[in-house]
Amino acid sequence: MAKFKERKIIVTSALPYANGSLHLGHLVEYIQTDIFVRFLRLTGKDVIYCCADDTHGAPIEIKASELGIKPEQLIEKFLKEHQEDFKSFHIKFDSYYTTNSEENKYFSDLFFEKLNKKGLIYKKDIEVTFCNNCKRTLPDRYVKGKCPKCNAPDQYGDVCEACNATYETIDLKGPYCVICKNTPIRKKSEHYFFKLSAFSGKLQEWIEKNKNFQPEIKNFILNWIKGGLEDWNISRDGPYFGFKIPGEENKYYYVWLDAPIGYISSLANYLKSTKKAEEAWNKNKVMHFIGKDIIYFHFLFWPAMLSGAEFNLPDDIIVHGFLTVNKEKMSKSRGTFFTAKDFLEKYDAEHLRFYYANVLSKKLADIDLNFNDFKERINNELAGNLGNFCYRIISFVNKNFNGEIKGIDKNESLISQINAKVENIRKYYESLNFNLAISEIMSISDIGNRYFQNNEPWSLIKKDSKKAEEICGLCINIAKNLSILIEPVLPKFSEGLQKQLNLSALKWEDINFKLKNHKINSEIILIRKIEEAKEEEFPLSLKVAKILEASEHPNADKLYVLQIDLGKEKRQLVAGLKGHYEKEQLKNKKIIVITNLKHAKLRGIESQGMLLAAEDNNGSVGLLTVKSTELGNEAKFGNLKNSNGEITFENFQKIKIIAREGKAFFNNLELKTDKESVFVEKVREGKVR
Ligand code: MSP
Ligand code: ZN
Repeated sequence: MAKFKERKIIVTSALPYANGSLHLGHLVEYIQTDIFVRFLRLTGKDVIYCCADDTHGAPIEIKASELGIKPEQLIEKFLKEHQEDFKSFHIKFDSYYTTNSEENKYFSDLFFEKLNKKGLIYKKDIEVTFCNNCKRTLPDRYVKGKCPKCNAPDQYGDVCEACNATYETIDLKGPYCVICKNTPIRKKSEHYFFKLSAFSGKLQEWIEKNKNFQPEIKNFILNWIKGGLEDWNISRDGPYFGFKIPGEENKYYYVWLDAPIGYISSLANYLKSTKKAEEAWNKNKVMHFIGKDIIYFHFLFWPAMLSGAEFNLPDDIIVHGFLTVNKEKMSKSRGTFFTAKDFLEKYDAEHLRFYYANVLSKKLADIDLNFNDFKERINNELAGNLGNFCYRIISFVNKNFNGEIKGIDKNESLISQINAKVENIRKYYESLNFNLAISEIMSISDIGNRYFQNNEPWSLIKKDSKKAEEICGLCINIAKNLSILIEPVLPKFSEGLQKQLNLSALKWEDINFKLKNHKINSEIILIRKIEEAKEEEFPLSLKVAKILEASEHPNADKLYVLQIDLGKEKRQLVAGLKGHYEKEQLKNKKIIVITNLKHAKLRGIESQGMLLAAEDNNGSVGLLTVKSTELGNEAKFGNLKNSNGEITFENFQKIKIIAREGKAFFNNLELKTDKESVFVEKVREGKVR
């Protein structure tokens, strides 16, 4: 049967600037878009997801010149880094391109010419702020001075952070160049202007008619239009990194002219043709995802340019709020600024995807990342509910039914309850209310957990094995459906879960309760819980060593000289064990050695460290020992990280380690290696030295 051919959907995220690393704020947008794109694909839609690095503008040119490299080198470095970051967060574009491309030059010139021919571009003299020393026109962020309204010092050339006034760079009082601190001059310069004002009526109609736009945004854009739109300066003087305006010596397109055009050239990169890209843009559905700081560009400039150049306007523009961490702006000094890479040092990519999905809706409100809430949701909901249900049922089926399910329990009410939720979830994804989708998905997993728990298949199996198996059959079907429902948010988890279920690449239409007579694979834990983040340091470095040989100390009657093996190195220790251990008893014992203690001579013989032993009130001495740990491996108290720095004997004596019931403790943390607990010989209660 021939399917009705729907329009394709072209989806974009805003193009990140190529002069910095991606951080958790950026990721809100790319994760939001990626979830949506994955959902569309899962439901059989034909989607093209396009993005690119935004490579032009004054900041890129200035940063490169400060680094003594070419702008091309700078943008190449960040393009690579951004692509790696997207990949590690499972953000999958069909085309990730650059605005510094042939195609983008082609389309920028095309737009410029078309608008020019229609009389929508004109030239006008303006006054700019120019630094004679740096020989450049200073853009907003490169000139500072006193706010013309409130006199606050050190304000940028566009907006005052003290009183929120907006103004031109030339309005600043006592201006200075941010680069060289000299006083700039005012200078006349001829610039190109785009007649945005001519589009007021058209834009107003377009915005009013659109049923997709978020209402809060509609309102304030309509107010902007009512307030009167000003024509837009689309040129910049060199030095500048960008495309030169045809016929000009030292003038370039302003970055915000060629940046949105980058959406179309990224599509051209995907289709390998500018002609096809133009066609595809004009006949398919276009959806942009952006942050609230760039609304003006996307709801006014960009549609006006598209309209003037006779291109289709976007069908939808989805705007998200800004990320705050613990309700405040991310900040390096508070330790709440994380780049994409920083985050992955501590957590998993899917932890963030899950958390963002939990807090994202089709609202303009800011999104808060609260690390306590983050940890709770990951540990209790992702791992404790969803992860636990899937693991539990798969391992149970493997253990009790040899991995095979035959029938399914006919629990109609449970099945219809879940089916109703599935419909809701589809609507929630579609309307970008991921928070609601997640809570419905979690409630399905919760139903599964309770159903499994209440039916007690582990005891039922003894009385009615067939029934127990059918209950598991239904649970396996629930797990299968969960793997599909959660795929947009957790693609890796979903893939891993389906692998365990001996299934793959399931689509939305595979959501049903029909899986039977099926053998699954063995279970694996897919979700890592977040550990107590604190990694406090312990002043000692403790390692496992074997005693190779013990001999008498020539000048002391209580001391032995020991030769020990630390795996990678051998050392000599002097230890007061005489009278407590015979030489022969010591040989081959695996002991715990402080390896960062300052070396010392004890009665003329060097001791390169010290072993740990406990002593009780009766004067008995017992060594701290292990059995199976490999030589050179660490012993640690709880999560405390062993130190690298050297410690003096005096400072070592201040550390209180005790023996209790044959084990060693520091601050109630037990001493263990990766394999086993450390055991204290002979002494049950005492002090460790
Ligand atoms: N290059 C422009 C966009 C051009 S689109 C034709 C730009 N780049 S950006 O790197 O500053 O931001 C890229 C996207 O990330 C924007 O949509 C922006 O709103 C979003 N975010 C950047 N920081 C953010 C937060 N702290 N929180 C949420 N989103 C943020 O703007
Ligand atoms: Zn200067």
